[in-house]
This record gives sequence, structure tokens and C-alpha cells, in this order.
Amino acid sequence: MYQLKTNLNTSDTEFLQNRKKYEKLREDFHARLDRVMAGGSAKAVKKHKDRNKLLARERVDLLVDPNTPFLELSTLAANGQYEDKFLGAGIVTGIGVIHGHETVIIANDATVKGGTYIRETIRKHVRAQEIALQNQLPVVYLVDSGGVFLPEQSRVFPDKEDFGRLFYNQARMSAMGLHQIAIVMGSCTAGGAYVPAMSDEAIIVRNQGTIFIGGPPLVKAATGEEVSKEELGGAEVHTSVSGVADHIAESDEHALEICRNLFESIPAKEKYKLEKKSAEAPLYPAEELYGIAPLDLKKSVDPKEIIMRIVDGSKFHEFKRNYGTTLVTGFAHIMGYPVGIIGNYGVFNSESAMKGAHFVELCQSRKIPLVFLQNISGFVVGKKYEHEGLAKHGAKLIHAIANANIPKFTVIFGGSFGAGNYAMAGRAYDPNLLFMWPNAKISVMGGEQAASVLTTVKIQQMKAEGKQPEEADIEKIRNEILSQYEYEGSAYYSTSRIWDDGIIDPAETRNVLAIGISMALNKPMEDMKNGVFRM
Ligand code: COA
Repeated sequence: MYQLKTNLNTSDTEFLQNRKKYEKLREDFHARLDRVMAGGSAKAVKKHKDRNKLLARERVDLLVDPNTPFLELSTLAANGQYEDKFLGAGIVTGIGVIHGHETVIIANDATVKGGTYIRETIRKHVRAQEIALQNQLPVVYLVDSGGVFLPEQSRVFPDKEDFGRLFYNQARMSAMGLHQIAIVMGSCTAGGAYVPAMSDEAIIVRNQGTIFIGGPPLVKAATGEEVSKEELGGAEVHTSVSGVADHIAESDEHALEICRNLFESIPAKEKYKLEKKSAEAPLYPAEELYGIAPLDLKKSVDPKEIIMRIVDGSKFHEFKRNYGTTLVTGFAHIMGYPVGIIGNYGVFNSESAMKGAHFVELCQSRKIPLVFLQNISGFVVGKKYEHEGLAKHGAKLIHAIANANIPKFTVIFGGSFGAGNYAMAGRAYDPNLLFMWPNAKISVMGGEQAASVLTTVKIQQMKAEGKQPEEADIEKIRNEILSQYEYEGSAYYSTSRIWDDGIIDPAETRNVLAIGISMALNKPMEDMKNGVFRM
């Protein structure tokens, strides 16, 4: 492999200015994270602690093996929505290691509206289960939730991907042999009662955890029966009368210890054996990525400048270096794991699309995980390109990505627009994980392009009606579209709706990818079955 050499001058004014601006972006990003990490309102946090309960992230910390990383997902879900009353969507999800098993952890945050579920809470919970399914990981549920947030019922209850999907997924995962353990550390009510009931084993904390299909007020209203929470569905009842739970714990700490002990009986898993090398730090510091990350999407960024700051020894074996140069493809290692990397260096054209498809096939045949570094405004447009069959060449790449049976990871480091998003393993292509940098933008096309398409349509409409378009009206439409795209295209808008698995600090990219690759090796890699490639 060749060591990449930077073409950047890190004392250059442009680089330094970019880095300075990026520091501001990072400050804002970390301030947003800190706000979510603090949990719900100070009052709710105090009430929770006064009950001798640990906070959701404290529970996770005690559950995972000491000195192992916890990769938290979609931390900023639901932010900027619901008047910011559901920070983090009231749930913590991520991948942690318990007795050596990489495990998906799903923890309700009861300090955020009693841990109730709005649409984003469900999406985040289901997404974590999808990760467990795709990578064949066990799951631990730390339950402390009032179930559905009742005022939102029409947006969370009846549809296929709504609340019911949580339990459907549990059944399917169980049938696949994925171990699931629930710890009931607070309320677990109505449909939520299925979480422990459908798990392999359930632990419940004495005088704290409750499980019931209908709580005391509902029982009173329905039958007139007066019953306390503990009598109806407390820890004693469920571990000695109903059998809905299996282990009784005296405190949060005790429950987490029992759960860790249960993991000791889960057999160690044979992971897919990738030929690993010993890890080597990149030659160039990751912090330089702050000076490189595109803040102005009109400026093109050589993805090799990013690659050399995330791969082992900054070594990269480039594939088809002089062909289809708007796409960079090649092999490298991340923390010792072999990877194939595909990065954008301009718009897609026929050559770069075919080169991408060829490279995906290479990685598939060698069973090497793929990393997509997305910064793509779309496909080249024009008669020449349509005539040479751009669509059929793009289709080959889409075929290859959709059918490749190897782990895929997508990092959006710049723009992610239109068909380019699809051709670079956007969310619809099931990458094992997808992250955005804080500066990233995502929308069906760039704001400028959308504004010009829509103003052109408007002018044509008015002319067809025999009206002369006023410059001021056209400008108004243009500005409205520009500001809508600016707002909806931000990484924060995306992550709030869980279109990604989270926003990451660029300097964390290497670590995050390594955790992802290691996690993905829990599933054997299979061969690829191709469909019909149009030639
Ligand atoms: N829907 C909407 N809001 C709910 C809710 C629900 N299911 N459950 C709780 N909340 C809200 C409360 O109104 C309160 O809101 P606020 O912070 O704006 O005042 C907040 O969540 C915290 O609830 P609170 O009762 O003060 O906290 P708690 O820790 O003492 O109790 C619960 C939490 C979840 C045990 C309790 O609120 C409860 O039993 N809720 C009803 C659960 C239920 O029957 N769910 C059925 C849904 S299918």
C-alpha cells in the first residue's frame, strides 16, 4: 500500500479560516450533545434521583464492560421539534460490550416526559432493533416508560412501523436466536408490558419496577377494582405469582449486575474472521479534518485528504486512479480491519458510476467491508451524458450496492443530494451504520438548484396563463425555497428525524467506523446474488 501525501498547506489562510469556523460549529454541536446528556428538566432529574434511581446513561455505564466504548446512536433525535420537550426522544440507544458480547442497548429516559414514546422514540427504538437484526447482536432493554405519549396516539399507534413494531421485532429476533434481556427499572405499562414478557429473561427492581397491561386507574374505571401498583404488577407479584419476570433485584445497581451475570451464560460468538493487521495511527492528525470539512459545498474536497486522516498509517491502495476520477476508490485498513473506501470527488458520470460498481464487486468477492465517504451533489446532467447511458451506468452501481452482502458504512462529510445519495449507500440502501458530520447537508437537491427549478416552473406557468411574471414574485418564491432547503437540509434536521444514526465529530470518524466494523462481524458474510445488470 502507498502512503498518501497531503497536498494541503495547513498554515494556509483558507485552511486556518475553515478550521476556525469549524471550531464554532463543533462548540455548537457539543453544546447540543451536553444538553441532551443532562436528561429532562432539572425537576424531573431530581425526582428521579430522589427515588434512588440511576439516570439512563448511568445505567448504561454500569452495564457495559469497564473501559470499553459505548457507541451512542441518534443522540439528538427529536431535537428542534415538540418545543424541545423530548430531547433525545426520551430514549438512549447504542452499541456496548457486555462480557465481551457486542450488544444493542435500549434505555428509556424517564426524566423526559416519563420515558413516553413519540414517533421519534419509536423510530429510534426500532432502528436499534434493526441494527441488532442486521448484525445479529443481543439486546438489553432498560425499561422505564409510561408507554405511548397519549396526545400523539394517531402518529404512534396503528401503522406498520409504529409502537407494535417493537414487539413484532422482538419475536422475529428471538426466532433468529438473538438473546434479549429486559430490566424493568420503572414503569412498563400497556403494550410496553410485552418488552419483558417477550424477552428471554426479565429482571425487575423491587418497589420500583411495575409491569401491567392496564394500570390501577384503568382497572378502577373498567371494573371498579381498587388495587395498588405493587399489588397489581410489582416485582414480588411478577417473580413469585405471575412468572412475567424471572429475577428480583434490590436496586438499579443490583439489577444491572444480575444482567451482566446472565451474559456469562451466553456462549461466546464465532465472529467472521477478517484478516486483521495490527492497527497503526494515521500519519496526519484527525483534528486537521476541521480545516478540510467542506463548509462551502461549492468548493470541492479531495476525499484522499480525509482518507489519509482516518486510515492506518495513511496507507491507501487506489483502484482505477486515472479513470472515473470524480470517484476515489481503494483499499486501506482502519484499526487493523481491511476496508474498501469509496469517496466522491465531484459529480457522478458514467465512468465513475461504472468504476464504483466494479469496486463494490471487488470488495464483495474479497469479503471486505465498504466505507462510503459521501459528498455528492448528484449526477452530471446534459444531452451528451443521457445519450451515453448515464442512467444505466448509475443503475449498475445501485444494483451492486443494494445487493452486496458485506458490511457497509456511510459517512456524509459534505453534501448528500438526490440520486447521488442513493448511489453512495444512503439510508435506503441499508448501510449497517450511517453518520453525518455537523457541517453535512442532505436534501433531494441543493437549495440553489431547487429554487431555480421551481422559479422556472412558475415563470412557465404564468406565461401559459398569459401573465407577465413580476421580478419581485419570482424573487419571493426563490427566497422561500432557499430558506426552506437551508433549514430542512441541515444535519440537525436529519438527525432529529433519525434519517441517520447520529452526528459525529469528524475526529471521531475512525473510532466510530472501527466499532461499526467489529460489530458487523457478528454476522457471517455471504456471497452476492446479482440481478439483471443493464449493459
Ligand atoms: N402520555 C402522555 N404524557 C404522559 C404519559 C403518557 N402516557 N405518562 C406520563 N406522562 C407525562 C406526565 O404528564 C408528565 O408530564 P409533565 O412533565 O409535562 O408534567 C411527565 O410525563 C412525567 O410524568 P409523572 O407522572 O409526573 O412522572 P412519574 O415519574 O411520577 O410517573 C409514569 C411516570 C409513567 C409512571 C406515570 O406518569 C404514568 O403512570 N403514566 C401513565 C402511563 C399509562 O397509563 N400509559 C398508557 C400508555 S399506552
